[in-house]
Amino acid sequence: MLGAPEQHNQQRDCRAVPFYALGPQHQPLSEQFHQCLRDAIENDGFVGGPTVEQFEAQWAYYCGTAHAIGVANGTDAIELILRGLGIGRGDEVVVPANTFVATAEAVVAAGAKPVFVDVDPGSLLISEGSVLAAIGPRTAAIIVVHLYGHVVDVRPINEIAARHGLAVVEDAAQAHGATLRGARTGSLAHAGAFSFYPGKNLGALGDGGAVTTNDLGLARRIRVLANHGRTADRHEHVEIGRNSRLDSLQAAFLSAKLPHLDEANERRRQLADAYGSRLRDTSIQLPTPPAGTTSVHHLMAVQVEGRDGFQQRLAERAIATGIHYRSACHRQPAFERFGPGYLPIAERAAARIVSLPMFPTMTDRQLQRTCDAIDMILTERRQ
Ligand SMILES: Cc1ncc(COP(=O)(O)O)c(C=O)c1O
Repeated sequence: MLGAPEQHNQQRDCRAVPFYALGPQHQPLSEQFHQCLRDAIENDGFVGGPTVEQFEAQWAYYCGTAHAIGVANGTDAIELILRGLGIGRGDEVVVPANTFVATAEAVVAAGAKPVFVDVDPGSLLISEGSVLAAIGPRTAAIIVVHLYGHVVDVRPINEIAARHGLAVVEDAAQAHGATLRGARTGSLAHAGAFSFYPGKNLGALGDGGAVTTNDLGLARRIRVLANHGRTADRHEHVEIGRNSRLDSLQAAFLSAKLPHLDEANERRRQLADAYGSRLRDTSIQLPTPPAGTTSVHHLMAVQVEGRDGFQQRLAERAIATGIHYRSACHRQPAFERFGPGYLPIAERAAARIVSLPMFPTMTDRQLQRTCDAIDMILTERRQ
């Protein structure tokens, strides 16, 4: 169907279709990874140092920003951006209700209050109208989340923010390399936050994260905050900071994987197109990313009535799926105290959403098998 299956995945291509598979992606890089480890041991270089600086320069260049700062994970990246911007106690931050809880967790960790807003019914991304309605006297920032690898059209939101004197932060944890009119995520607003959790489009072999920005002052402050409030003088601590550093081994692994990111994203796009052609005329609702954007399809999240039964029937046919996310963020027990009550689009999506297998080494046969199984389930339902 697609004509580009990875050879090393062929022998694993038995009946089961996994939800995700890192092994086939890592296998060709195994020797390079081992060399990274030998280098780290030989150089006694484990935290910070030239390996981290090299990856930071590569990541800034890739994203098209002046600065990238390696941090411990994506959640810290968001929190450090907010703290770096001086956002905290007494401030409100607008957050889409359809996101992974980490987005809102970071807001609370910075001391601010998340204000959850509804999403666009087609893309399930934060909508401009709901952002506008949520802005009040305490609003300090808006976090746009490029969920599922789809890019928010940030331009109208940047305009709203400029009018009200607010910061716009990109949560790009699921969208490495995705673009809006040719510009990459991480470069589209005041600052971008990335996660390098292993399953992400660019993943480390452990936890990792980064902040990207063109704001030199912000970059400097985040470096200080992420390293115990320490300045270039090791003995001077000018702020109450914390420890959130990217370790040098993970930075070396990320540098080894980065040259393969575009090709892997391209394969994801091929798979998404193939899913689209097979499922277009069915009762499955496909996502519609905003015009002018190029998605990197981190997740193939579709909507279907009777989702739990559908997922169960796929599992019986050895097709693994996921749910992102079973509850809209504002409905999670930890966040209910922040309100705002009913957000119809995010809540309807949470009941219907299911993520189909999607990973760059997924073969044509695995895709075919998944779509055949979906056809059979939908046919059974009609009978
Ligand atoms: C949308 C989103 N934001 C933030 C994060 C947090 O990243 P991390 O797990 O690296 O802290 C994730 C990771 O799962 C995510 O998917």
